[in-house]
Amino acid sequence: MRKSMQLENKRIVVVGGANGTGAAIVRAFVAEGAGVASLDIRDAEGESVVSAANGKGPGEGHYFHCDASVRTEVKEAFTSAAGVLGGIDAMVVTAGVMGKVLEPESIDDGEFDRIMNINVRSIFVTNQEIFPYLKENGGGRIINFGSGSALRSYPSAVHYSASKGAVISWTRSLAFAWGKHNITANVVNPAIARTLMFTESAQEAASEGKEATANQLESMFPLGSRRFPPTKEDLPVGFGDPDADLAPVLVFLVGDGARFITAQIIPIDGGLTPGR
Ligand SMILES: NC(=O)c1ccc[n+]([C@@H]2O[C@H](COP(=O)([O-])OP(=O)(O)OC[C@H]3O[C@@H](n4cnc5c(N)ncnc54)[C@H](O)[C@@H]3O)[C@@H](O)[C@H]2O)c1
Repeated sequence: MRKSMQLENKRIVVVGGANGTGAAIVRAFVAEGAGVASLDIRDAEGESVVSAANGKGPGEGHYFHCDASVRTEVKEAFTSAAGVLGGIDAMVVTAGVMGKVLEPESIDDGEFDRIMNINVRSIFVTNQEIFPYLKENGGGRIINFGSGSALRSYPSAVHYSASKGAVISWTRSLAFAWGKHNITANVVNPAIARTLMFTESAQEAASEGKEATANQLESMFPLGSRRFPPTKEDLPVGFGDPDADLAPVLVFLVGDGARFITAQIIPIDGGLTPGR
């Protein structure tokens, strides 16, 4: 018997689809029958994620190079995406970077601007540029990635935390501004998922002699080592898995069942954030 697909005929843009959560989302959307345009700056990884997802089907992914913080590139990539998909129903923006581990008093202007330029400008530019497509479509979904660190204390990268706070405020107000066009806008707050970002920041912490951070964080999750239903056997205690723990929630959020959810912060954090 043919398995029913949750996202058949949906046309979805994933910004940041080459790695981590974005890659897991591309895989899940294609597996649920969607047409997906994956945008990123890491082209080899982006192409490879799409090609592996297409190998399994039943949906179809397409990869486009795009620096999400550069308006001309976003415009061009959305034109290509809408062309190949035949329109756009939803966009998920996972593109983002972690701030350098620094005391607040040591963050210089360049590092502050780098984080704001990618984490906040990418949201600003992609959200603005997707608007005409969603409006013309009669409605649609925008899901921006924030972070639990915007709500709980994150003293080792205050500027990163602030950038994600901006994503939350932007998205909630946007939901009210564009709700009349039948566009929902929500924020997903992960904390903490094993991705490229996680590995890179763990490496940076280790090189700075702050490697205890990962173990300390792991002990803060309320969930034990055994989850039900069981996921991957090698899944460590606490930390989220992009494919098993995050992507299924995004499948729901872009699907028809989530049409009455807007202006929300949706934590996918294993309970970490309320522990502040
Ligand atoms: N991993 C976590 O634990 C965690 C926790 C809280 C929030 N987040 C947020 O979730 C989102 C996804 O995180 P992840 O862990 O999957 O990250 P990741 O580093 O694994 O993947 C991020 C992807 O975004 C892309 N990207 C970065 N800058 C870009 C740009 N200017 N234009 C286009 N693409 C760009 C990268 O190339 C990469 O492929 C991010 O916004 C991150 O801040 C992650």
